[in-house]
Amino acid sequence: MEIYAIKGDICYSKDIHKIVVSKDSYVVCKDGLCAGVYKILPKCYEMVPCYDYSGKLVIPGLVDIHMHAPQYTFRGLGMDMELIDWLNTHTFVEEAKYEDEEYSNKAYDIFVEDLKYSATTRACIFGTIHHKATSELMKKLENAGMCGYVGKVNMDRNSPEYLCEKSVNQAVEDTKKWIEEVKDLKNIKPILTPRFIPTCSDKLMESLSEIQKENKLPVQSHLSENIGEIEWVKDLCPDTNFYGEAYYKYNMFGGDCPTIMAHCVHSNDDEIELMKKQNVFVAHCPESNTNLSSGIAPIRTYIEKGLKIGLGSDIAAGSTLSIFNAMAMAIQCSKLRWRLVDQSLLPLNIDEAFYLGTKGGGEFFGKVGSFEEGYEFDAVVIDDTSIKSARELELKERLERYIYLAQDQYIIAKFVAGNKVFGK
Ligand code: GUN
Ligand code: FE
Repeated sequence: MEIYAIKGDICYSKDIHKIVVSKDSYVVCKDGLCAGVYKILPKCYEMVPCYDYSGKLVIPGLVDIHMHAPQYTFRGLGMDMELIDWLNTHTFVEEAKYEDEEYSNKAYDIFVEDLKYSATTRACIFGTIHHKATSELMKKLENAGMCGYVGKVNMDRNSPEYLCEKSVNQAVEDTKKWIEEVKDLKNIKPILTPRFIPTCSDKLMESLSEIQKENKLPVQSHLSENIGEIEWVKDLCPDTNFYGEAYYKYNMFGGDCPTIMAHCVHSNDDEIELMKKQNVFVAHCPESNTNLSSGIAPIRTYIEKGLKIGLGSDIAAGSTLSIFNAMAMAIQCSKLRWRLVDQSLLPLNIDEAFYLGTKGGGEFFGKVGSFEEGYEFDAVVIDDTSIKSARELELKERLERYIYLAQDQYIIAKFVAGNKVFGK
């Protein structure tokens, strides 16, 4: 049994309403699980090894439930288009390069290194259509000590010839090969990834649905991100009443199939109701919604209706891996929505945003994203003491400021599922 304690200024969420703070305290890790937060160490833990991070911020690892690893190469570039033009002009061209092993290795090494030293401990990640490159990405993430899900992307229509499944049979074969290639990984697991309805034929969706049932895999995709996209789905799927039904009819929309849908910017009442009933997770990606002019997702409505919500960086429609940035932007976007769209829906506050980026998204992984007892032990230590300021800040103010500053260079240690990934 491995037990240790971390000492520092501890902040975490129990619920969405309030960040819990405990200055100069200990959080105990026992066999990879959190064994409580204490002002004074109980007798039974007095002799356990202790990482002394006194004066530093100690928080649960951040959770990113939506991003595209291959797009990391063009983050911060080409943000002058809406979704479909952006995909055709920038995204598909870049993703096609991952057929080349040398390119994909080089790109994924850089991506994994940067993710390792970020505050993110768990992530749900899209790869590309290429099974080999996706399996290699997963091995690199596992070796870096990360936890998460990664998907080989599926797309077989409305896609350029150079980035399109050759046939449904080929897609099924490649998907099965990929599942086999990664079956021995411990912390990085496969997640079925139909890119989105416009690029997935009925036959492909049917086949993926069978693979889902056989292998009991979770699913990730995109939903109701852009107005033009939603109109397109209406034309492509005349038998559905709303976008979400196009996944639901293949049993890939929650229920027995744990599902993350990215964006949900323009979901109608029926779609919201089905997401609620099926426990579909909404991946809110505020920076992406802004960069692609998609709109502002009604997160306050989703919170009030009790939907499952986490945050996503959506690299590269979002430019940064930082989920701190996603927290700040979730608040900022909700303020604009409140001012410009609907004054009956209050903006998010810092407690809510921190919850979404930790325990909210963490729930997709089980008991993840908090320091409550029994939660998997993911922790990040931040040395904010070198941020110069004449003003003395309370502990919660230090966290709040850090969320807005979102500068990775102050992260000095990281623990994932009880294992130290880096730090003294
Ligand atoms: N919809 C389908 N593919 C993508 C993608 O790569 N990024 C975003 N933001 N939306 C998508
Ligand atoms: Fe995306």
